[in-house]
This record gives sequence, C-alpha cells and structure tokens, in this order.
Amino acid sequence: MSTNAFANSGIRPATPGDIAALVAIENASFPGDRLDRRRFRYLLREANSVTFVDVDGAAVRGYILLLLRTGWRGARVYSIATHPAHLGCGVAARLLTAAERWAAAHGCVQVRLEVRADNAASLALFRGRGYVAFGSHGAYYHDGMDALRLRRMLAL
Ligand SMILES: CC(C)(COP(=O)(O)OP(=O)(O)OC[C@H]1O[C@@H](n2cnc3c(N)ncnc32)[C@H](O)[C@@H]1OP(=O)(O)O)[C@@H](O)C(=O)NCCC(=O)NCCS
Repeated sequence: MSTNAFANSGIRPATPGDIAALVAIENASFPGDRLDRRRFRYLLREANSVTFVDVDGAAVRGYILLLLRTGWRGARVYSIATHPAHLGCGVAARLLTAAERWAAAHGCVQVRLEVRADNAASLALFRGRGYVAFGSHGAYYHDGMDALRLRRMLAL
C-alpha cells in the first residue's frame, strides 16, 4: 500500500468519485428501498444533505447520509451502511460520531432516524449510542415492515 493510501484513511465528506462505491455498498446492504446512482448524485449536490465516507486507501468501508431541514435544528440519518467486508469493525460507530459532531457544529440539537423494527444490528448501534424510540410508522418499508423512530439529543 502506498503512503498516499495511508494518508487517505479515515472519515471525509463523500465526493462524486465515491458514487460507484456507495451504490455497491447500498446494493450489498439493503434488499429494497435502495439509493441508486442518480439519487446519490443528487444528494451529494443537495445543500441540505451531507454524506461522510469511511475510507481505507481506495476502499470505501461505509457511509452515512444526513439530511437537514430549513427551520428545524435537527439532522436526520437518511441512510447508514457498512460494506459487508468491514462489518463489526467500528465503521458505523465512527461514522455516526462524525456525523453527530458535524450536526452539532452546524447548530443541530438532535439527530433522528427511522429504522426497521426487525433490524437488530442497527437498533443495537443506535440504542448503544443513546438513541431512544419516540414513535413508529406502520408499514413504512417496501415489504410492509414497520419503522421505529429514534432520536438522540445532542449535548451543546
Ligand atoms: C447496522 C450497520 C450499519 C452496523 O455497521 P457496523 O460497521 O458493522 O457497526 P459497528 O462495527 O460500528 O458496530 C457498532 C455497534 O453496532 C451494533 N452492532 C453492529 N453489528 C451488530 C450485529 N450484527 N448484531 C448486533 N449488534 C450489532 C453493536 O452495538 C456495535 O457496538 P459495540 O461494538 O460497541 O458492541 C451494518 O450492520 C449495516 O450496514 N447493515 C445493513 C444496512 C443497514 O441496516 N443500515 C441501517 C439502516 S437504519
């Protein structure tokens, strides 16, 4: 591995050059309701969203995508996923921490998200980091599964 590859390790904002890797992670991680190339390209340009990637050299290990809404001091985790080759290595935890720090630095007082009621790994990730359920949406996903609404208040 080159010196450059080491220099390019860690978390950084995603760029259009990451889109192929983002789509590959998406396709490997979700059976349905996936983001495609076009949607990623739009979201990377969109002022009210930010995407961070965790990279190791040329490899994108995972991503988190936050949405902001004008007039609301909160951020929504629109999506988070770790490439299957890097599961269980702390990638999502690092991305979530980076996203929360970014949100706090941009005036957000809370982070929210929806998660499938049967997504044990994701529920453990967010509950373990202080997220609590505050509601649900019935039949929210393509297969009729409910969503739990989770949120965490950010320390200011
Ligand atoms: C959920 C997901 C993002 C976790 O990614 P990850 O990089 O493997 O997670 P990490 O290694 O950072 O683990 C962070 C925490 O998640 C939880 N976790 C991760 N994988 C888990 C599993 N298979 N079972 C139970 N808990 C799990 C643990 O609480 C872990 O904390 P700990 O290490 O202190 O115990 C990953 O499983 C994934 O991409 N799933 C498919 C896409 C998805 O469901 N995204 C969430 C949509 S809301």
